[in-house]
Amino acid sequence: MAEAHKSAGGSLVTCFAVAVAVAVVLSPVESGIGVNWGTVASHRLSPATVVDLLKDNNIQKVKLFDADPSSLEALMGTGIQVMVGIPNEMLSLLASSPATADMWVRQNLSRYIMAKSGAADIRYVAVGNEPFLTSYSGQFQSYVLPAMVNLQQAMVRANLQSIVKLVVPCNADAYEANVPSQGAFRPELSQIMTELVQFLNSNGSPFIVNIYPFLSLYGNSDFPQDYAFFEGSSHPVTDGQNVYYNAFDGNFDTLVAALNRIGFGQMPIVIGEVGWPTDGAFSANLTAARVFNQGLINHVLGNKGTPLRPGVPPMDVYLFSLLNEGAKSVLPGNFERHWGIFSFDGQAKYPLNLGLGNRFLKNAKDVVYLPSRWCVVNPSRDLSGVINHMKLACSLADCTTLDFGGSCNGIGAKGNISYSFNSYYQLQKQNSQSCDFGGLGLVTFLDPSIGDCRFLVGISDIGGSFRAQPPIFSWLGVWVIALWMCSTLVMGV
Ligand SMILES: *[C@@H]1O[C@H](CO)[C@@H](O)[C@H](O)[C@H]1NC(C)=O
Ligand SMILES: *[C@@H]1O[C@H](CO)[C@@H](O)[C@H](O)[C@H]1NC(C)=O
Ligand SMILES: *[C@@H]1O[C@H](CO)[C@@H](O)[C@H](O)[C@H]1NC(C)=O
Repeated sequence: MAEAHKSAGGSLVTCFAVAVAVAVVLSPVESGIGVNWGTVASHRLSPATVVDLLKDNNIQKVKLFDADPSSLEALMGTGIQVMVGIPNEMLSLLASSPATADMWVRQNLSRYIMAKSGAADIRYVAVGNEPFLTSYSGQFQSYVLPAMVNLQQAMVRANLQSIVKLVVPCNADAYEANVPSQGAFRPELSQIMTELVQFLNSNGSPFIVNIYPFLSLYGNSDFPQDYAFFEGSSHPVTDGQNVYYNAFDGNFDTLVAALNRIGFGQMPIVIGEVGWPTDGAFSANLTAARVFNQGLINHVLGNKGTPLRPGVPPMDVYLFSLLNEGAKSVLPGNFERHWGIFSFDGQAKYPLNLGLGNRFLKNAKDVVYLPSRWCVVNPSRDLSGVINHMKLACSLADCTTLDFGGSCNGIGAKGNISYSFNSYYQLQKQNSQSCDFGGLGLVTFLDPSIGDCRFLVGISDIGGSFRAQPPIFSWLGVWVIALWMCSTLVMGV
């Protein structure tokens, strides 16, 4: 075809072809890199500060786990594309009641999308979060499709169906295989997955999957370490003609094969969560996280695709996660609280090029910290009863870095006590009674951090909440200039 055009063409055609070629080179079909913004935090940055952090890093896509009003209000008018979430616990109610679905859509979508000025750009609603996870033993799975049907109808009634798409983030445990080409959904899910994928397809929605090579490595001592990363592997997986050098591609193609098996091999795929934690386990460290995340971004933006989808990378990729969440359950492991590319206070943990225009991550600005003081153990006291204080402190505050594999493991017995005291003291916003511990605690103005083990200082709630002022001032400025221009014009006449 291209040859035929050339022979027929004059300079106009050539020029057009060049223009098209240039356009194609400049705007390849690229994956969008976004982030997950979870809020199970013990020290929570203000939503305005987080949204500024997204903007400063040119992050255009964000995935939430709920429809928290303060987050959505902060996202209004920014042009950032949003995926809101519905917790699994709400699915049964939404499945049984169209009226609840109407209310959910009104309160959590219409309010923000139909706003007269500065609407929120909500593109997706995640119906449940990994509702088919094996460890949920099927308790949510029968509600997913009925909830989607009710929500879809509610969106039609609210006239949002062309703006917002329903999706279901699935854990990669929804499918299995020894080699990617054999991929199939779990037998007990095959019916429900077929219906789900038909529903998604009829609405033009992508399939969303969360892929975690870290968990494969963490949970399996036989897992070849280099297969978890993107630097090539000395243990590649050979699958007929295809050879896989990294777990991400192998997992992705297992899903492609599973979709193909039920007749939807072309369905677009979005990665809802992928990332690497930096603390709380041996393989969770800064170097590994940087190498994994940078490798992932470069791999995806390289547009190579996978053996089963050459040249077609995932449509979007949401990194897990934007910020550490110090109040998450540690049932899966201590690393759960350390997934952020930024620490809880919005500071970059390591250099990372997101491929969005900045060479490195930019830190959060205007973070308001509590005063520079810490709570430590008073070494001159009798410490015989300290263990109970320590246990209580760590049951409420985060002490996950103290355990084996953590950045504070190895700071000694006294270090352990001080760390737990300080964690609790900062959680309590440095309330003076919270450093008492039966007279064993002591407030210090010298940073007790040791090596890689950071004794944190909490952040203040007030940070960034006085945001109404700048726009008013800038409007004032415009008026002043306008008045000045008018007056000079009038005077000139
Ligand atoms: C969303 O809507 C439901 C139903 O009206 C409501 O209970 C909930 O508080 C709203 N907000 C969030 C964060 O889900
Ligand atoms: C960091 O994790 C990687 C990946 O598992 C491991 O090979 C490496 O030894 C770890 N580095 C440190 C300093 O613990
Ligand atoms: C400090 O606490 C951690 C976690 O409980 C433990 O593994 C370590 O052995 C403790 N160190 C000392 C010296 O007691």
